Amino acid sequence: MSNVIVTDHPLIQHKLTIMRDKNTGSKDFRELLTEITMLMGYEITRNIQLEDVEIETPVVKTTCKMVAGKKLGIVPILRAGLGMVDGLVNLIPAAKVGHVGLYRDPETLEPVEYYSKFPTDIEEREMIIVDPMLATGGSAVAAIDILKANGAKTIKLVNLVAAPEGIAEVQKYHSDVDIYVAAIDEKLNDHGYIVPGLGDAGDRIFGTK
Ligand code: PRP
Ligand code: URA
Repeated sequence: MSNVIVTDHPLIQHKLTIMRDKNTGSKDFRELLTEITMLMGYEITRNIQLEDVEIETPVVKTTCKMVAGKKLGIVPILRAGLGMVDGLVNLIPAAKVGHVGLYRDPETLEPVEYYSKFPTDIEEREMIIVDPMLATGGSAVAAIDILKANGAKTIKLVNLVAAPEGIAEVQKYHSDVDIYVAAIDEKLNDHGYIVPGLGDAGDRIFGTK
C-alpha cells in the first residue's frame, strides 16, 4: 500500500489558508504555491541518495556528503501542475521536466489526455508527478498509467490538497506510488470539487474562468 505523507508544517498550513481564501488573487496564489512546493520538497527529497566527496575547507581537507546524482524527473499534470514546477526545480536544478496534458471532462469527470512528453531516460529516473488537486483521483491515476506505459519505474505523486476519495483511488490502482500532500480535506461535492478545497486551481493560477 502506498504511503501517504502529510507535510503539514505550520508555515505550509498558514500559506495554504491564504490560498484557500477566495479573495486571494492569482499573483499571490502562484507565489504561495511555489513557496509551499519548496517547503514540501524538504520531505519529498528526504530519501535522496548521498555520496562522499573530498573537499578542502579553508582549514583542512575533509570528506563531506553531496547528492549522488540519482536522476530525478518532474512531471506536472497540465495545466495546474505547472504551478508546482518552479518550487521543485529551484531545489533540484538538475531535474528534467516532462509534461502530461489532461483535463477533466466537466460532465463525466473522466480525464482526457491531450499531450505527453518525457525525458528519454525516464526508466532511470525517479519521477515526481505534481498537481495541486487530487479530487476523484482520475487524473492522477491516468497520469501514472501514462508514465508507467512510457517506462517509468519509480514514481511519487505530489499534491497540495487531496480528497480522501482521490487518495483511495490512487492506492487502488497504483499501490507502489507514495503520495505527498499538504492537506487531506473532508470530501468531494456533487461536481467533483474538493470541500473545503480552494476552487479550481488552474483557473486561480492562470486567472481564467
Ligand atoms: C484539475 C486538477 C487535477 C484534476 C483533479 O485539473 O489540476 O488535474 O482537476 O481532479 P480529479 O482528481 O478528479 O481528476 P482540470 O481538469 O481542472 O484541468 P486544468 O489543470 O487544465 O485546469
Ligand atoms: N480540480 C480543481 O482544480 N479543484 C477541485 O476542487 C477539484 C478538481
